[in-house]
Amino acid sequence: MKRWLRVILEVLPSVLLALVAFVLLLAVVGFFSSKRSQAAEGAGRKQLDPAAWGADHVGQPLPLYTEGGECLFCHRHQVGTTWDTNKHNRTIRDAEPKEPAMAALLDDAKTKEFAAEVQLLMGDTRAQRFLKRAEAYGHADIASVKAEFARGTRAKLVDADSAKWDSEKFAKQCAGCHTTAVDPETQAFATVSLDCYACHGDSPVDHATDTTLMPLARERKDSPAAVSSICGSCHIRFGKSKSTGLPYPANFVAGDNLFRDFEVDWSVLDATDETKKLNPADAHVMDNLREVVLYGNEQMTCLTCHDVHKSTSAKHRELPVTKYCQHCHTASDPIKGHKRYTVHSERCEY
Ligand code: HEC
Ligand code: HEC
Ligand code: HEC
Ligand code: HEC
Ligand code: HEC
Ligand code: HEC
Repeated sequence: MKRWLRVILEVLPSVLLALVAFVLLLAVVGFFSSKRSQAAEGAGRKQLDPAAWGADHVGQPLPLYTEGGECLFCHRHQVGTTWDTNKHNRTIRDAEPKEPAMAALLDDAKTKEFAAEVQLLMGDTRAQRFLKRAEAYGHADIASVKAEFARGTRAKLVDADSAKWDSEKFAKQCAGCHTTAVDPETQAFATVSLDCYACHGDSPVDHATDTTLMPLARERKDSPAAVSSICGSCHIRFGKSKSTGLPYPANFVAGDNLFRDFEVDWSVLDATDETKKLNPADAHVMDNLREVVLYGNEQMTCLTCHDVHKSTSAKHRELPVTKYCQHCHTASDPIKGHKRYTVHSERCEY
């Protein structure tokens, strides 16, 4: 064998070994630096103190507010026409026997008698709950049996075998976001379901001549942080009040800074484990709020896309494509179609 060939054959194994080691090293470095750049998306950015601005109503008496019926007396043409069908207004409504969830309860021999006690229905197209008014003012009992809707409008009962009433749960875990003006001490609500007050706050009579007195009025030009406080007061399903320990805000009034008393677990956005990742509904809410509240990126709020009284997000289709869109769309520009997604919530038990 030629001498030079023998030399090559002798060193070849160690060259190969070195090569393999080098490739492995590259992979390891690459892995850690990509981890670091993922974390840097959040961690590297300057964070604001969300509690720094404004005031709140923690510890103060509940404001006496004007009820929706009165508002609609003057606003029946702009808002009155759509309010009846607005999902905020309807989150709790009378339990009509023709509602699919009620029909299912009445149809099932195990719950037929129980159904006679149900007065109110809460929820939407994925899940609904049965309620009855409690004797105590501003309280309701919630039933253990639930209605779920997999697809279409046929209701499927869950836990129908041992239907019973719970007189604590609704007040301590649900009332703050599904009823209006909850007293932090007694957890009594003023009105079942959501009234104008939930978003427009303690609206003064004088707003008719000076609309800047009214939260969310066009002239007032509320800051993105103020808007985020209003919508976030119910749409953040990962927070708790520091003063009450309850999973909903304490005496929040539109115009307040929610984040003085409401502690939010923003880390839910950073889950990488597939089973813990937020669904697109919660993710797009939490991501948008974190941008505004924590990073001071005020380019976009809920109202950039949602028109609350027209119940539409149609205007969102005109926006420039960004990474944010990938909560619901695959990465493409222009956007075509959208991802199918399901929504579950530990907070809301569905
Ligand atoms: C922090 C506020 C908050 C609390 C507390 C809360 N909810 Fe909700 N709930 C919401 C919001 C916001 C939605 C709408 C979410 C969406 O559509 O993505 C909702 C939706 C629902 C729905 C409708 C789901 C559907 O799409 O059909 C049901 C049912 C529900 N909640 C039940 C409950 C129950 C029961 C409790 C108490 C155990 C509760 N919620 C506590 C904010 C809250
Ligand atoms: C879930 C939050 C929410 C509730 C509840 C709510 N509003 Fe509004 N309202 C808004 C927002 C947000 C705007 C600003 C316009 C927009 O972007 O949708 C608005 C705008 C308005 C306007 C201005 C007219 C217009 O269409 O631009 C009037 C008047 C109004 N609301 C009255 C009411 C009345 C009366 C009620 C109760 C019957 C009510 N709102 C309940 C969020 C709410
Ligand atoms: C006595 C009649 C009256 C009552 C009651 C009333 N409003 Fe108004 N409101 C007006 C008038 C007049 C304006 C100014 C003209 C306009 O924008 O419609 C106005 C303006 C507004 C605006 C700002 C509209 C804009 O241009 O962005 C909002 C929001 C609003 N009202 C909400 C409410 C809510 C919520 C209630 C109940 C708590 C209420 N109003 C009760 C008469 C009334
Ligand atoms: C007081 C609590 C509360 C506040 C404040 C609130 N929401 Fe909601 N919102 C809810 C609940 C509860 C539901 C689910 C109602 C249901 O279907 O049972 C809901 C549903 C929705 C929906 C889905 C239904 C639809 O009409 O498309 C949108 C979008 C929405 N809210 C946007 C907003 C925006 C934007 C704001 C701020 C201006 C806001 N919400 C303020 C409690 C609230
Ligand atoms: C870039 C646009 C955009 C922004 C910003 C945005 N949304 Fe949405 N949101 C949508 C679209 C689009 C949908 C899906 C279609 C629909 O339900 O209207 C949606 C759906 C929802 C739903 C129903 C989710 C479900 O399926 O249960 C709620 C509730 C909601 N948004 C609340 C909010 C709130 C609160 C904010 C602000 C923190 C917000 N959104 C910010 C575009 C947006
Ligand atoms: C919360 C989920 C959600 C987010 C976030 C969202 N979209 Fe959508 N988008 C939808 C849904 C649902 C539809 C279908 C219903 C509709 O057309 O409104 C849709 C439809 C669209 C359409 C029409 C597509 C077609 O095939 O006709 C466009 C364009 C669009 N979105 C653009 C965007 C852009 C741009 C962004 C980011 C700035 C965005 N979307 C963010 C849920 C979302």
